[in-house]
Amino acid sequence: MRKKVTIVGAGNVGATTAHWLAAKELADIVLVDIVEGIPQGKALDLLESLPVERSNVGVVGSNGYEPTAGSDIVVITAGFPRKPGMSRDDLVRANAEIVGAATAEVAKRSPNSILIVVTNPLDAMCEVARRVSGFPRERVLGMAGVLDSARFCTFIAMELGVSVDNVHAFVLGGHGDQMVPLPRYSTVAGVPITELLDKATIDRLVERTAKGGGEIVNLLKAGSAYYAPGRAITEMIDAILKDKHKILPCAAYLQGEYGIRDLFIGVPCRLGAKGLEKVVEIGLTAEEKASLEKSAQAVEALVKTLP
Ligand code: APR
Repeated sequence: MRKKVTIVGAGNVGATTAHWLAAKELADIVLVDIVEGIPQGKALDLLESLPVERSNVGVVGSNGYEPTAGSDIVVITAGFPRKPGMSRDDLVRANAEIVGAATAEVAKRSPNSILIVVTNPLDAMCEVARRVSGFPRERVLGMAGVLDSARFCTFIAMELGVSVDNVHAFVLGGHGDQMVPLPRYSTVAGVPITELLDKATIDRLVERTAKGGGEIVNLLKAGSAYYAPGRAITEMIDAILKDKHKILPCAAYLQGEYGIRDLFIGVPCRLGAKGLEKVVEIGLTAEEKASLEKSAQAVEALVKTLP
């Protein structure tokens, strides 16, 4: 039987994720949105592209949650995106309500599903989904690190004029301006970028990565990024549905790893069919550890504001 992925929120990120998933023939897709006609219209349009693509997956759109029953994975993108000048944190109250309601609906119809939260502020919305679903930490993950790392990769490849195929980049921490890109663990054809670029250049790329979401918001004026987020979500889904045991940076609920407890934060995670298989702990310098702690404090402060 084909796998089933529900995407709540058929806006830019949700629809783009559906597009990547369908093109890769990964699973049947259910798009859910509150706006009448939007999920149905986008689902039908996408479905009509698949005879050309020769991809055999089903795509349905709905305003209700009935078609989501028995999903293997549920992606939650419902909510308001950032507007220029707005931080992710400004979104917290409005989006907590939306994510909480969506989680309650999907959790009762797909009690064994794995939740991938995307709505911002990411780490706090993961906590909302965890509390409302009651799912174990293995089955509640947040998508941020794959996107942040992809942005860092992009800037490294552009700076050095090399193929993105050669670049691996590492980003830890919360999905906010306090994220922690790790140049020591970011490599080009296996060589750390600290051997290839001077400190001022690395600092510039790190800064651009941390503010990468805002850069797109400022350019688009209305709305926030969706191509790269959609592709990053697809990478997590691919690792889970194919039971790849792949290490990807994700927001996970830490239980003492990195000295942090009861908090979602971005860390390297091994993903497989059960969701989170293991939080991978890597050695950090005192400075990197301090940055991660600072990032965790910012997430903690936000979680405290949750209703
Ligand atoms: N239930 C279902 N869908 C909802 C609900 C709800 N209660 N409330 C809002 N939505 C839908 C909107 O109708 C809209 O179609 O969520 C969709 C959000 O789509 P966009 O506004 O296009 O936002 P998008 O760019 O997709 O970003 C969604 O992902 O990256 C994050 O910061 C971003 O939090 C934002 C989220």
